[in-house]
Amino acid sequence: MSTAVHFHDQHVEGAGGTFRDDVIQGLGATPKALSPKYFYDERGSRLFEAICEQPEYYLTRTEEGILAGAAAEIAALVGPGALMVELGSGASRKVRLLLEAMRPRRYLGMDISRDFLLKSTRRLAADYPWLEVHAAWGDFSRRLALPSGVEGRRMVAFFPGSSIGNFTPAEAEAFLSRLRRALPPGSGVLVGVDLVKERGLLEAAYNDAAGVTAAFNLNLLERMRRDLGAAVEVDAFQHRAFFNAPASRIEMHLVSRQRQAIILEGQRFVFEEGEALHTENSCKYSVAGFQALAARAGYRSGAVWCDDQALFSVHYLAND
Ligand code: AVI
Repeated sequence: MSTAVHFHDQHVEGAGGTFRDDVIQGLGATPKALSPKYFYDERGSRLFEAICEQPEYYLTRTEEGILAGAAAEIAALVGPGALMVELGSGASRKVRLLLEAMRPRRYLGMDISRDFLLKSTRRLAADYPWLEVHAAWGDFSRRLALPSGVEGRRMVAFFPGSSIGNFTPAEAEAFLSRLRRALPPGSGVLVGVDLVKERGLLEAAYNDAAGVTAAFNLNLLERMRRDLGAAVEVDAFQHRAFFNAPASRIEMHLVSRQRQAIILEGQRFVFEEGEALHTENSCKYSVAGFQALAARAGYRSGAVWCDDQALFSVHYLAND
């Protein structure tokens, strides 16, 4: 069996929503904001992997524990020989906890970070020679189409890591609904969802003592400099993350330490001292709250698994 990866370029250049366009739009808006999807260039993807290793960031290890414990039950729900599509596949690490039990025929990793996607899927193909591995480079939050030639009568979409929390609840519902329309009947979605909990634990997870999350957030400014040639004083910004309880979400911001401007293509985007660029929401749900959202998107809740401390949940949503 070949260890080659079938690569599909689904990246759409210049169709609006590019990093440049969104930076100009986001820095010109009030309040200033930018989509968290721009965190994930090569360096940002590496920093995210390092966040997952931080002791305060309980999400990754907790979800991995749940997946490892539930792999046989998940495999029974999905059945062998399915097409497994991982949305935002990153390092393709968590899927390894399921592959042996689930035995899908094909795996398709979709990610916005091209080189990272290629490296991860190549490693996966080498380690699982019985698996047909595909990689689709693109922004699945904008375009959710299977590349031609990658079909499956039964599909499971795997969306781990609580990445669904980086959408607002309305966006999450719309996204799940679009995803459902792309799934053949009898398919499902396996989605990791972080649970609402005590403020201290939540805020520590996004303010790790080693400063990795701060570097990840500040990398957005470095990226503006590297990729767009923007003039940015990165050290004159600081990372801030806090729990917004009424909205049930962690918010991340880059706060200006002084009055200053980011200059891009001759345009000056002025920041007052203390003014923030809002870079991420990470929504936290109750199990029942997320099941209600999934029901509004047209799914039946097939099963849900949690850890003993109710930190994190993994849901199987069925498209009957
Ligand atoms: C990818 N996503 C689910 C992470 C989260 O927890 O919202 C991204 C992240 N942001 C800061 N730390 C991790």
